[in-house]
Amino acid sequence: MPKKGLLIAVEGIDGAGKSTQVQMLKNGLYQQGVDVVTFKEPTNGIFGKRIRELAEHGRSNITATEESQLFLQDRIEDVRQNIMPALEKVSVVIMDRYYFSNIAYQGARGLDMNYIKSENEKIAPTPELLLIIDIPPAIGISRIRDLRGDTPNAFEGETYLAKVRQIFTDLSEDLPYAHLIDGNKPIKSVHETIMKIVLEKICE
Ligand code: TYD
Repeated sequence: MPKKGLLIAVEGIDGAGKSTQVQMLKNGLYQQGVDVVTFKEPTNGIFGKRIRELAEHGRSNITATEESQLFLQDRIEDVRQNIMPALEKVSVVIMDRYYFSNIAYQGARGLDMNYIKSENEKIAPTPELLLIIDIPPAIGISRIRDLRGDTPNAFEGETYLAKVRQIFTDLSEDLPYAHLIDGNKPIKSVHETIMKIVLEKICE
């Protein structure tokens, strides 16, 4: 059994398959006898709810800075209420989105990415592993439309997501704990790649 408190963040543009892969990773680890919990950002707390309203009704009434601040507030709450307590108790904590979404999505709106990163690192623990699931925006958007039967929301335009994707790719090159994973492969193959990276880390 690994020691307590390995933090893993799973990131990627909308439709990349994060939630599916987080669930499969959780089950895979559980089957290996590893105790694991997952959290999702934005959360269902008060800031998370406000963020979801924005996603539905459009972001034109809010500046990029205010928007970024909402995600940060939401994360402060998540760290205090969920993430820190879990890291004390459980072997592996998996985040379905974390502050790298803040860097990529609000960075793509023109905010200073180094500033967002440093503000987040003041309030949130840096993960041991960052798994970025990479797909072209057109594929992400068609998955949202076809599979979820959803209309893409205010965060899901193709040009915008192309910028977000580029920032994620740049982060994967800059951060030593990051891995870029091809999300265009079959679900099972993506899962196997992720399991291998995580088990190697746990066994270090
Ligand atoms: P959500 O509706 O939960 O979508 P998903 O299931 O794809 O995670 O998240 C809403 C949007 O919030 C999503 O498009 C990404 C965006 N986001 C940011 O812009 N900044 C952030 O810091 C986070 C955590 C998410």
